[in-house]
Amino acid sequence: MQRRFDPSPTPSEPPRPSRFPGFAPGFDPDEVPRCNHSNNPAFAQILGGRLRRRQVLRGGLAAAVTVLFGPSRQGGGGPEVARAAIAPSATASNAQGMRLGFKGVPVSSADTFVVPEGYTARWFIPHGEPITGNFPAYGLDNSGADQGMQVGSHHDGMHFFPLNGSSTEGLLVLNHEYIEPRFLHRAAMGLPLQSGSVPLREDGRREPDQVLKEINAHGVTVVRVRRRGDGSWMVLRDRHNRRITGQTPMEIGGPVRGNEALKTRYSPDGTRTRGTLNNCAHGVTPWNTYLTCEENWARYFLNRSKGADGKPDLPREQRRYEMSTGEMSRYGWERAADGADGFVRFDVTPTGDRAIADYRNEANGFGWIVEINPFDPDSVPVKRTALGRFAHEGVVFQPAIEGQPVVCYSGDDSEFEYIYKYVSAEPYRQRTANGSLLDEGTLYVAKFNEDGTGEWLSLVFGQGALTAANGFRDQADVLLNTRAAADAVGATKMDRPEWGAVDPATGAVYFTLTNNADRTAEQVDAANPRPGNRTGQIIRWRERGDDPTAIAFEWDLFLLAGPPDNSRTLDGRSLDASNHFSSPDGLWFDALGRLWIQTDMSESVLNQGDHAQYGNNQMLVADPRSGEVRRFLTGPIGQEITGVVMTPDQRTMFVNVQHPGATTPGPEFAAGQVRSRWPEQVDSRYPRSATVIITKDDGGIIGT
Ligand code: FEO
Ligand code: CA
Ligand code: CA
Ligand code: CA
Repeated sequence: MQRRFDPSPTPSEPPRPSRFPGFAPGFDPDEVPRCNHSNNPAFAQILGGRLRRRQVLRGGLAAAVTVLFGPSRQGGGGPEVARAAIAPSATASNAQGMRLGFKGVPVSSADTFVVPEGYTARWFIPHGEPITGNFPAYGLDNSGADQGMQVGSHHDGMHFFPLNGSSTEGLLVLNHEYIEPRFLHRAAMGLPLQSGSVPLREDGRREPDQVLKEINAHGVTVVRVRRRGDGSWMVLRDRHNRRITGQTPMEIGGPVRGNEALKTRYSPDGTRTRGTLNNCAHGVTPWNTYLTCEENWARYFLNRSKGADGKPDLPREQRRYEMSTGEMSRYGWERAADGADGFVRFDVTPTGDRAIADYRNEANGFGWIVEINPFDPDSVPVKRTALGRFAHEGVVFQPAIEGQPVVCYSGDDSEFEYIYKYVSAEPYRQRTANGSLLDEGTLYVAKFNEDGTGEWLSLVFGQGALTAANGFRDQADVLLNTRAAADAVGATKMDRPEWGAVDPATGAVYFTLTNNADRTAEQVDAANPRPGNRTGQIIRWRERGDDPTAIAFEWDLFLLAGPPDNSRTLDGRSLDASNHFSSPDGLWFDALGRLWIQTDMSESVLNQGDHAQYGNNQMLVADPRSGEVRRFLTGPIGQEITGVVMTPDQRTMFVNVQHPGATTPGPEFAAGQVRSRWPEQVDSRYPRSATVIITKDDGGIIGT
């Protein structure tokens, strides 16, 4: 018989006593509690609270927006620092009203995927779709090994790599962020499991094959796909098809390679590790490889060490990353009953007489950006440590310029964490460019000033506060402890940085800040202007002199998301029922310069209370010149929309639906009910994450 392990009570139910009281993450498994307890002051404190007073004393979103955007265009005049810096490009095509040429869709709380009139949506490669090996057909009884030959779960960041420039054939590469164990295992049926809970054996251990299946449902899928004449797509049985999982061997690259802190029983020289986990968003390098980003990896590892006071006693490189410190890690993989080396490594409590005798350093191999060459199925993925270690949401590049450094940006998605930029030491040369450009360079962290200017603060050992006197040993130590280094230099604490996107016409960089309900009135600043921020905003900046390597920039807020009485678009208007939304997450510019915005309202608020008005998670599109926003699609129940890309001809769009049905309460699951049956809508099948292919019925360009 299986026991229930229930780490995630729904808000509507009181938490039940658990056998493992130390492990109690929040309801949304993709949402990590705040772990920035540094004294690094919130920005408003540094600046004497001028803006804070305006916002709080005048009650004022309107006041805040006036400061940030300058007076509305109707008002004219006034301070225009940030806006002037991000003025429309003279070269950008800007036929206002033609850019968003579809009829917007209303909010929806139905278990369907809705696209505008004149469009068709087809689901594709759901979790469990066979793509390689013996191509095992999907079923609840699939083994762990089967899962390693099938598409993983919880589809997220994604890119289409055309083959020879084709818009009808290419490699689709996508992340699998996490799992829903109750939908993975036959043994979970009938148990009152919440989302994220795992079945335990009577002896408190885990069935090894369930653990293997869960590890193999994580990672990345590479699959060759081809368009048929009717607009649908098919999977090709091709040598490029590949699953990269939570146990695939990987190399460590960059300054942390070979460091003492990476040495384990598996890799005594600290150059290798196994697997990538919690792969959220992604990036594409200028040399056409795929980057996958490790976001909420920390709780997959358990450290049972306690100090003399009985409290968790973690080394510095774990303390700032919200490791599990109770009885069990996020999914309890270290409890696998067979004690296999690949499973016990998730318990990082020191047990041996030295690091290479145990897995005390295993978690130091995670929190990185991983480079994958999808065109070489035998290539070994490489963790690029020069890009820093944190809860990487994604990574986005400035267009590469011959002879100039490569520049990219990455956000750390946790409350009060930071936005980073990397500038390569070596210049980009199209003929020879490769991943070594990501091994040597300078990592910076953003400071957003109240006046619309900003600074990139370098994270270089020996400079500023990053010295031995402050506990930093060398550059590898700075990178292992990126968050602590950013604290030390005085970066601006943000409202959960998610995806970034670079406007192809102007080079302006946009980032979603999804929400931060924990920000207090005393902690607001110009970039994060709302206390108790439940709905999020989109910030943007332009590098000084349009030089991507500049250490200064000008910024403003592109959009404040939320309800009609607490939102603001670029043109000074509010969002209304036709285009309001909350919690922007995915963000992507298409080739025409339209900004696609995806929402990830947490399961704890979805279709409830003040969030009921927004319905299910959705995707909208904005015109970055006019500020117009229109809702393009809505997804089924319990899911988030994440990941978006088009073919080069812009006539096929790929979008991911992640975790449909996740809002199903444990007792309903036990009774055999789920709140979504998407995509199959068959009573005997659980909901599954899947890609959705969107085409325009007249064969035209998507969104026009
Ligand atoms: Fe995985 Fe921050 O979304
Ligand atoms: Ca999520
Ligand atoms: Ca995300
Ligand atoms: Ca998210």
